[in-house]
Amino acid sequence: MTIFGIETSCDETAAAVVENGVKEICSVVASSKELHEETGGIVPEVAARKQVESITPVIQECFERYKESQGFSSIKDCMRSVDAVAVTVGPGLVGSLVVGIEAAKALSLALGKPIIPVNHLVGHIYANFIDNKDTIEFPAVALLVSGGHTDLVLVKDHHKLEYVGGTLDDAAGEAFDKVARLLGLSKYLGGALLSKKAQECEENTLKGKLPRPMLDQDNFDFSFSGLKTAARRIVEEKKYSTEVIAKEFEDAVVDVLTEKTIKAVKKFGVKTILLGGGVSANTSLRDRFMKESARIGIKTHIPPIRLCTDNAVYIAGAAFFNNRPEKYEKIDANPALGIMDLL
Ligand code: KG4
Ligand code: ZN
Repeated sequence: MTIFGIETSCDETAAAVVENGVKEICSVVASSKELHEETGGIVPEVAARKQVESITPVIQECFERYKESQGFSSIKDCMRSVDAVAVTVGPGLVGSLVVGIEAAKALSLALGKPIIPVNHLVGHIYANFIDNKDTIEFPAVALLVSGGHTDLVLVKDHHKLEYVGGTLDDAAGEAFDKVARLLGLSKYLGGALLSKKAQECEENTLKGKLPRPMLDQDNFDFSFSGLKTAARRIVEEKKYSTEVIAKEFEDAVVDVLTEKTIKAVKKFGVKTILLGGGVSANTSLRDRFMKESARIGIKTHIPPIRLCTDNAVYIAGAAFFNNRPEKYEKIDANPALGIMDLL
């Protein structure tokens, strides 16, 4: 089954073609990140306008690449070969979501093919199935760590998710971004830059000085706003280098995310850990998960870095495994969708 996926939940405009939920045929991602760097944060109206500008060229480029990779003689032929159109319906910015949804409706109508609504967060989980040579065994615990969400989810099977816990305040990515800003590394989406600085740290002279929030609590919830405030105090002291603060902050986040996930693995007796979301691109987090899970004989799957941040490949993948076509008139943007909605 060939699915054409569209993702426009925030500041990326993306389209992709995926076969049977696992084989990436082609993918195109355009980002308006640079515009939001200028304003030091995302202005939803600006992001939505950029989505309007980018959606048609991104879809066209994706069909071009599909045609080329499969040797179709015309774009029409390759459009006809698509079995369904998948689109992110939430969570996200409403103005951005609507652009992708309307484009998906138009394609679906023109091609006479069904449309499959996809939850962006569930999509992140399915990045693990793309071109993965290993078989993913259920039940699994999924840790979703993005700019807007930090959730622990028990994945009993496709379509069978149970919410286990999540952040009570900031998401892990949001905390990375805010501390990167405090350190003067980036005004917008500084997680990767903070991580780069942390790698340059030769000795962590702050080791253990930042809190590891909620680790001692018997639940699966997280809190990152106190950690962010503690990091601010240390930055204001001006006693430590950027590299050292970045390293200690990253270690604190990684400690909490790893330990709470391993605790969930033990409690629910699962065989597998699945990581997803932009923060799962973090090298230190990836290394720690691989090490800790190997120690207890559990397999961790982590998507390749380019599939951790937003794209349409995992949207098309998720649609294959949770294939529930909806009628056009029922498909609407839902900016506040949670991980458990739309299963
Ligand atoms: O999943 P995503 O692309 O967008 C959302 O759905 O939110 O995640 C973006 C988040 C941002 O907060 C960004 O700073 C963070 O992922 N991120 C990272 C890294 N790469 C992206 N955080 C830490 N280390 C990284 N290498
Ligand atoms: Zn995302």
